[in-house]
Amino acid sequence: MQRRDFFKWGLAGVGTAALAGKASALEFYPMPSEKKWAVVYGTWCGSSRDAAVWISEGMAGIADVFDVRENPDLSGFDHVVIGGSIRSGRTSAELQDYIGRNQALLKEKVRGLFAVCGNMGSPVGPAQTAAFIDNHLAKLCDVENKPSKVFLGRITKSLMDPQTAASMAGAADYDNLKRSECLAFGQQVLQAAASAGKAGSGLPGKSSLGQNYPNPFNPSCRIGYRLHRPGEVRLQILDAKGRKVRTLLSGVQPAGEHSVLWDGRDDQGGSVASGTYLYSLRFDGKTVTKRMMKVQ
Ligand SMILES: Cc1cc2nc3c(=O)[nH]c(=O)nc-3n(C[C@H](O)[C@H](O)[C@H](O)COP(=O)(O)O)c2cc1C
Repeated sequence: MQRRDFFKWGLAGVGTAALAGKASALEFYPMPSEKKWAVVYGTWCGSSRDAAVWISEGMAGIADVFDVRENPDLSGFDHVVIGGSIRSGRTSAELQDYIGRNQALLKEKVRGLFAVCGNMGSPVGPAQTAAFIDNHLAKLCDVENKPSKVFLGRITKSLMDPQTAASMAGAADYDNLKRSECLAFGQQVLQAAASAGKAGSGLPGKSSLGQNYPNPFNPSCRIGYRLHRPGEVRLQILDAKGRKVRTLLSGVQPAGEHSVLWDGRDDQGGSVASGTYLYSLRFDGKTVTKRMMKVQ
């Protein structure tokens, strides 16, 4: 080995030792937060962390993301999405323990559940949902019928403790975790929460316009609505004096649940000032308008 190679490998060794020290003594830095949503995950090798971050991204970034080993205090949050990776059919001991200690709070605040598993690379189906969600996480949290998702995850043997890595020696690494699925689940959770909070709307049939979420918001929010039949729809943002700020959509849409993300920008692409805004849905000859607030 040449002298410079020796040097290179020596430095890499120091880096690895420092990393190992960090991993065995995880440090977390609590940050004050105004957010009302939290995504909490339990992981061994990190795929559930990626899933949690992408779920939050699918919720337009309105959620704080916590490793359950931080023992997060969720009392200031109103809504929680919780889940983690699966070994031997169960989530990590830390996650199970945390849920047990916080069950009363979680029972009220859980809005979504997720699990990340290998399933030998096969697509997940009702059996995995039953095993990991219905008969495991939902029971631990004492909740029923919450939006849920089982994701395929990944194996990275170099991130495992030596004993576990040795036990997996015959298996190849893989990565089946899909960002798009995590984003879609985040949107699904938000949409379910938005439509659960919807009031009578003044629209025909069973069509309705939900309250934007979150509200107040910054920088973006989601507006959910339901159409009882297909038809021409126009959704606009107005300022407090009723002047048009942005046309979010105008066109024919199918029946069913819909939601649109407003990025807080006007038709010219500029970010709007904080204050009160109206959003107005026109459908089937009728218009319904609701109020929302952008904060700094
Ligand atoms: C020791 C071990 C046991 C596992 N047991 C299961 C299992 O019972 N069912 C399953 O579907 N996947 C199982 N897996 C696959 C993991 O759930 C999958 O790799 C997941 O992405 C790991 O998440 P993490 O990266 O957050 O730790 C197992 C993986 C390991 C290493």
